Amino acid sequence: MTQTVYVLNGPNLNLLGLREPEIYGTQTLDDIAGLLEDRARELDLEIDMRQSNHEGHLVDWMHEAQATGAQAVLLNAGAYTHTSIALHDAIKAIRTPVIEVHLSNPHAREGFRHKSYVGMAAKGTIAGFGATGYLLALEAAARL
Ligand code: DQA
Repeated sequence: MTQTVYVLNGPNLNLLGLREPEIYGTQTLDDIAGLLEDRARELDLEIDMRQSNHEGHLVDWMHEAQATGAQAVLLNAGAYTHTSIALHDAIKAIRTPVIEVHLSNPHAREGFRHKSYVGMAAKGTIAGFGATGYLLALEAAARL
């Protein structure tokens, strides 16, 4: 049976392509979904890609990933990365492995981005490689 990988995106990532392209690149979230779907097909995986500006949606979707037996969650929590104990707890509350993804490298940016509540609970982190980071995370998910 083909396993599903949830790809969850947090606040402001709906604006990718327009939003600070010098930091986040010019590809849209739909472009990234297309790249992931192509690679997922080769890996015999399915992608369930979502975006929300609301913290609780991300929590609910992580619970759902576990309930539906997903292979893994790729999570770019946007700024909630640096603030959300609820997301930290949700990652710890589920057995489904969660891989933290960032387009930029938060450690090379402002000090307030250096702390990641997501990274403290995640299986691993891929950051700083732009849209390619999502593909690298999918490769990691396929090998779990
Ligand atoms: C981000 C990094 C976060 O610090 C920022 O708040 C984002 C995007 C990234 O993908 O590089 O919204 O998660």
